[in-house]
Amino acid sequence: MTLTFAMEWLNLLFRWAHLIVGIGWIGTSFYFIALDLSLRKREGMKEGVFGTAWEVHGGGFYHVEKFTVAPKELPSDLIWYKWEAYLTWVTGFALLVVQYYFNASAYLIDPSVMKLTAGEASLISIISLAAGWLIYDRLCKSPIGRNTPLLAVCLFVLILGASYLFTHVFSGRGAFIHVGAFVGTIMAVNVFGIIIPNQKKIAASLMAGEAPDPALGAMGKQRSVHNNYLTLPVLLMMVSNHYPMLTGHPQSWLLVALILIIGGMVRHFLNRHDAGDPFARFWWALPAAGVGLVAAIIMTAPKDYSGADAVSDAAALTITRTHCATCHAQTPTSEAFDEAPKGIYLETVADLRRYAEQVMVQAVQSDAMPLGNETGMTEEERATLGAWISQQQ
Ligand code: HEC
Repeated sequence: MTLTFAMEWLNLLFRWAHLIVGIGWIGTSFYFIALDLSLRKREGMKEGVFGTAWEVHGGGFYHVEKFTVAPKELPSDLIWYKWEAYLTWVTGFALLVVQYYFNASAYLIDPSVMKLTAGEASLISIISLAAGWLIYDRLCKSPIGRNTPLLAVCLFVLILGASYLFTHVFSGRGAFIHVGAFVGTIMAVNVFGIIIPNQKKIAASLMAGEAPDPALGAMGKQRSVHNNYLTLPVLLMMVSNHYPMLTGHPQSWLLVALILIIGGMVRHFLNRHDAGDPFARFWWALPAAGVGLVAAIIMTAPKDYSGADAVSDAAALTITRTHCATCHAQTPTSEAFDEAPKGIYLETVADLRRYAEQVMVQAVQSDAMPLGNETGMTEEERATLGAWISQQQ
């Protein structure tokens, strides 16, 4: 069994697990927000109950009550929702190691952006994730943390600054996955380091018959609101590497800004709608998301190669044989691959015609391929390949 094959399996298993626990985390988070917002005051509520909700699911009826602070007595089998968040981070980091650190030269490093060794790139990655949390946590605990609009602007600038740095250090897709990991780490440590410990302290004071410190609850709530607004953008970052129009864009960090705005605005609209606010107070969030989306579409508009000079089949094939067929071949010569990635061969003119659309997306409209531009494919070669593909239709 080769190492590459073993890593493929680890990659698959970590990715599978990451998806499952991630769905669990986001799912419970969405569920509790919706539950919170659907609570109503009803007749005959117990003392200390803030509101209740009636729900139906899977053939059963559920009646949930929320307490203003906590009931007088807490059962010992209280259910905590924390493992979904912890395991999402753990499986995500494992996937980062297997996919990006282990294959750093293919996925994480682009020598035309910065010449790094695999060790250097991995170290930068780890330090940046830790630094992200430390800066974020300081910001929230500083006086800025008490001014919500100012804090929101600072966090936006923090994530954008990180995106700018990542896109100037890593490959396109390496940068985007790091923006996702940067934000995801903040979210997971919010649960691990703030929300759950504070909730434990609150529960302990209640059980001891003391009044809990209200600052603990307020801090937990603040972090949980941040997580709520970051959920939608972070999910897009995590799947972004399937879209070279995003990751391969020369100003991709600006696209990150638009994604934060679009995701945040959609989330705001849904939050306020679920809370039952008057429509006039939050409708603007959807057009704002729409403006962000239109800007992103305009920014990623494809280049047009239809007016270029005629390119011969032989010229096109020479380019792909040099820059693609080291990996995309029946027997790849690249050490990182045992077989053609995604089963795509680019060795004959017939292959090239067959995959023309994808080649256009991956290697002409963006520089997603060749991976890490190991072979140093030039803009001129991309334009020639683009012209040849446009001439095939
Ligand atoms: C260093 C190895 C390597 C080289 C060189 C390379 N590729 Fe790839 N290619 C890959 C890998 C790995 C994938 C799968 C990427 C993934 O998993 O997202 C891939 C995927 C693709 C895909 C499918 C993308 C998708 O997700 O649908 C296309 C199309 C493609 N490559 C075209 C090219 C072209 C064109 C070239 C040359 C200009 C090229 N590749 C050079 C490794 C390489």
